Amino acid sequence: MKERPLVSQEEILKQREYMRLVREIDRRPQSYHIVSMGCQMNARDSETIAGMLEEMGMERQPVREQADLILYNTCCVRENAENKALGNVIWLKELKRDKSELMICVGGCMTQEKGMAATMKKRYPFIDLIYGTHNLYRLPEYIYRFLQGREPVVEVLDTDGEVVEGLPEKRESVHTSFVNIMYGCNNFCSYCIVPYVRGRERSRDPEDIEREVAQLLEKGAQEIVLLGQNVNSYRGGGAEFANLLRRLDRLGVPRIRFMTSHPKDLSDELIAAYGDLEHLMPSLHLPVQAGNDEILRQMNRRYNRARYLDLVRRLRAVRPEIGLTSDIIVGFPGETEAQFEDTMSLVREVRFDAAYTFIYSPRKGTKAAEMPDPVTAEEKSARIQRLIDLQQAIAYEALCAQVGRKEIVLVDSVSTRDAGSVGGKTPRGHMVNFPGSAELIGKFVEVEITSAGKNTLRGKLV
Ligand code: SAH
Ligand code: SF4
Ligand code: F3S
Repeated sequence: MKERPLVSQEEILKQREYMRLVREIDRRPQSYHIVSMGCQMNARDSETIAGMLEEMGMERQPVREQADLILYNTCCVRENAENKALGNVIWLKELKRDKSELMICVGGCMTQEKGMAATMKKRYPFIDLIYGTHNLYRLPEYIYRFLQGREPVVEVLDTDGEVVEGLPEKRESVHTSFVNIMYGCNNFCSYCIVPYVRGRERSRDPEDIEREVAQLLEKGAQEIVLLGQNVNSYRGGGAEFANLLRRLDRLGVPRIRFMTSHPKDLSDELIAAYGDLEHLMPSLHLPVQAGNDEILRQMNRRYNRARYLDLVRRLRAVRPEIGLTSDIIVGFPGETEAQFEDTMSLVREVRFDAAYTFIYSPRKGTKAAEMPDPVTAEEKSARIQRLIDLQQAIAYEALCAQVGRKEIVLVDSVSTRDAGSVGGKTPRGHMVNFPGSAELIGKFVEVEITSAGKNTLRGKLV
C-alpha cells in the first residue's frame, strides 16, 4: 500500500502557535458562525473548524447576523448547492456594509473547483479569506495573516490531499459522533465532481481511528458513524474495512454505522461482518444511482444491475432485517424512458427504506458534462416525480410493517412538531417519535411502535 501522506506534527504545532497568536490580538473577531453545506464530510470538517476558532478565543454565535466571523463551508455536488452558496455570499456584502469589522471566510468544496477561487476573488472582493479542502488545517495561519494586514487572503492548494491528525475539534453531538476514516475519492463516476475537489483516496491509520473512538466512548458516545466517500476502499480495499469494523466492534461501541459504501467494492468480508458483529447496526446506505446497465456503464460505476441485486440478496441472507437506503440519479445524459423504467423496476425489486433522488446536474470538468443530453427538463421532472411517488409508497409500507414491534431507540432529539415528544433511531435506522422528556437524549430506551406516518414512526415507551 502507498504510504499515507501525513501532515507533519511540526506543521500542526505551527498552526497551534498561530491559534495562540490570534487569541492575543485585541481587534480580533470575538464570535463565529459556521454555515455548513453539503454532506457529513463537510459537517465533520466544520467541527474541526469550530475547534480551531474556539482555540483562537472565539465563541460560537448561533445568530449569523450577530457573529464577528462568518464562515461558509460550501458544497458543489449539484448546481443548486453552488447557487445556494453563492447567493448566501452575495447577501453577506450587505451585512458587511453595516459592520465593517465583519470577517467573511469561504471554504470547502466549491472554492476547490478549478478557477473558482480566482473568479470569486474578482467578483466578491469583500470576502476576506478563501481557502480550499486541502488546506483547512492552515486556517489559523490565514486568519492571523488577514488580521495583521487586513488584505484578502486567497489560497487554494492544487494537491492530491493529505491526512491531518491532531487538530482541535468542537463536536455538535456527543452521543452520535462522526469519525473520518478516509478522505477523497478515486472513482471518477462520470457525473461527479467530488474526486476533483476532494483529491485522491487516503486512509487514516487504524490506530489513530481506534484512539479517537476510544476517547469518544469515554466522553459518552453511544453511536459512531464512520465517514468516507467510499469506505469500502479503506486502505486500498479488500478486507481492510471489515477488519477495521471488527476492531471497533471489540472496543464496545454500542452502535456502529458508516457511509458511504460503493457497490463495486463491497467485500465478502463486509457482508460476513453484518452476520456476526454485535454492534454493527442492520442498516446500509448503498447508492445504486441507476437500474439500467448501459446507464451504469456510462456513469462509470463499474457494477451492473445483477451485481447490485446479488449484493442485496446476500446482505439480506446474513441479516434479514437490514434496512437499505440509496441515492438515485434521474435524467443522466441521454437516459431513455425504457432505461428510466429499469430504475423504477429496481426500486420495486429492492424495496429501499429510503432513497435520495436527484435530477442529474451537469458539473463542469466531469465527463458526463460533455455528453449530449436531449431529454427535456420537463421530462426529467416528470420522471423524478414518478420515482418519488413509488419510493414513498414503498417506504410507507416498510414503516407500517414495523407497527407492533418493540425496538431499542437511541434518543437524539426533542421533537419540533409534537410538544413533549422526543425522537431517535431504531437499529435499522427508522426515526421514531414518542412522548418523553429531553433528559432521555443520548440514552437507549425500549419503544413499542404504535403507528406509521409518511416518513417516521410513532411509539410509546415500554
Ligand atoms: N461518495 C458517495 C456520494 C457522494 S455525492 C457515493 O459514491 O455514494 C452524493 C450523491 O449525490 C451521489 O450518490 C449521487 O447520487 C449524487 N450526485 C453526485 N453528483 C451528482 C450530479 N452531478 N447530479 C446529480 N446528482 C449527483
Ligand atoms: Fe462521486 Fe462516485 Fe466518488 Fe461517490 S464514488 S464521490 S459518486 S465519484
Ligand atoms: Fe458536497 Fe463536497 Fe460533500 S461537494 S456532497 S460537500 S464532498
